[in-house]
Amino acid sequence: MAPLPVRVRPQSMPDRPGRPTTLLLPAEHQKRQETRVPGTVIVGTQWGDEGKGKLTDVLAGEMDMVVRYQGGHNAGHTIVVGEQSFALQLIPSGILHPHIVNVIGNGLVVDPRVLLAELDALEARGIDTANLVVSGNAHLILPYHQELDRLYERYLGSNKLGTTRSGIGPAYADKAARVGLRVQDLLDPKIFRAKLDLVLKEKAAILAKVYNRLPPDPAAIAEEYLDVIAPRLAPRIVDSVNLIHRFLEDGKHVMFEGAQATFLDLDHGTYPFVTSSNPIAGGACAGAGVGPRHLERIIGITKAYLTRVGSGPFPTELHDDVGDLLVDRGHEYGTNTKRRRRTGWFDAVMLRHAVRLNSLTEIFLTKLDVLDPLESIKVCVAYEVDGERVTELPYHQSDLHKAVPVYEELPGWRTDCSGATTLDELPGAARDYVLFLADQGGVPVSFVGVGPERRQTVHVA
Ligand code: GDP
Ligand code: IMO
Ligand code: MG
Repeated sequence: MAPLPVRVRPQSMPDRPGRPTTLLLPAEHQKRQETRVPGTVIVGTQWGDEGKGKLTDVLAGEMDMVVRYQGGHNAGHTIVVGEQSFALQLIPSGILHPHIVNVIGNGLVVDPRVLLAELDALEARGIDTANLVVSGNAHLILPYHQELDRLYERYLGSNKLGTTRSGIGPAYADKAARVGLRVQDLLDPKIFRAKLDLVLKEKAAILAKVYNRLPPDPAAIAEEYLDVIAPRLAPRIVDSVNLIHRFLEDGKHVMFEGAQATFLDLDHGTYPFVTSSNPIAGGACAGAGVGPRHLERIIGITKAYLTRVGSGPFPTELHDDVGDLLVDRGHEYGTNTKRRRRTGWFDAVMLRHAVRLNSLTEIFLTKLDVLDPLESIKVCVAYEVDGERVTELPYHQSDLHKAVPVYEELPGWRTDCSGATTLDELPGAARDYVLFLADQGGVPVSFVGVGPERRQTVHVA
């Protein structure tokens, strides 16, 4: 006989007029709700490269599963363990830990050539990759996406976005246009070929007539993807949504690892100088298939200064010796593309906006050590736009282009802080700087990074 229904209070629902205070639910479901542990999201709060790889690795011991929920191999997430450094593009940053199941979620665009090369490179370094699975609903990046990405950038000329040229935009465009091929199509040659033939007719016309290029060869693509790639990927293709939910319901800890960052978000970033997905924490809901109630701890990864690769507005950008010092000390060159990153002072207006967009519960402040030699450090606390002081991010892009930063200047510490492991071991001025940023954002700082290695982390909380 089925267990009797019990009357339960809905979770986290304060009494409000018109809201039920009890609901009917069979007891077995109630138990499942109680065992479920809401997930942790880590999200970049700036323009990327804040140290998401490092934080994922720092928290890996507590996690059972790490899920990437958007983007593709435009990401470059670095993990440094002792003498070894790993730069991950598609594979979640939990891969170095055998107890973690690593999931490439449905929200990604996956270049299977890159994925297989990344797996081979890890295996060659002695990392067991058996714990990596890929959602069958993720979309595929195919060779013509990369070609179109390059051609489109060339076509834009001086207006180019400075993309990573990995085919991200064209692949997401096909997804939105509903002509994309998905990872699951690799398992069905007939469907793969039919979809490819259909989409290539249009791509061939664009490549030939707009860009004066040879059309892609469907037979060659089908041969490589179905005969070479599919057999290798097939054992890893899963129903990721139900897998993630089984973990959540079993009380296991799931981390959702964002790539790119808040201000590269397609909807909320500095459009059009953005990526083509939703890195914000809410993107985890769509890109992994979980409801907002499954997300509880939202950690914003924030560099102690600011960097950006590619084009777009950057109010606090530095074109002086301090900018060069940040590049040198922070090794601010793209993890994969090796492009020099633009650098600037910390922007608290952006941080406050990121706190709102992501519902941040805490901040992991990285690269504090890079600021060690500075005599004084500026933080942008507001902008002046057309002579008016604003403390909220202007929604109009033109206003952001003409925004003049209003700075507060804080004393530097001029001490090597890279060995600190507790807040007390940080120089007083460094502690004050961290507290100042927490105050500006209105969110607690729970970790401070003082070097690239896992152990170079101050655990505040
Ligand atoms: P991600 O894309 O957010 O994962 O960041 P990247 O890996 O692209 O870039 C961050 C870089 O900073 C990497 O080279 C990291 O090893 C390094 N890093 C991370 N945290 C710290 C830190 O606290 N101090 C220093 N000096 N380097 C750090
Ligand atoms: P991680 O995860 C920094 C930038 C590109 C370009 C714009 C669009 O390592 O933080 P795309 O190839 O996505 O169409 O490029 O976004 N960009 C990143 N910048 N870190 C990243 O990833 C980035 N991924 C894309 O430089 O300006
Ligand atoms: Mg990166």
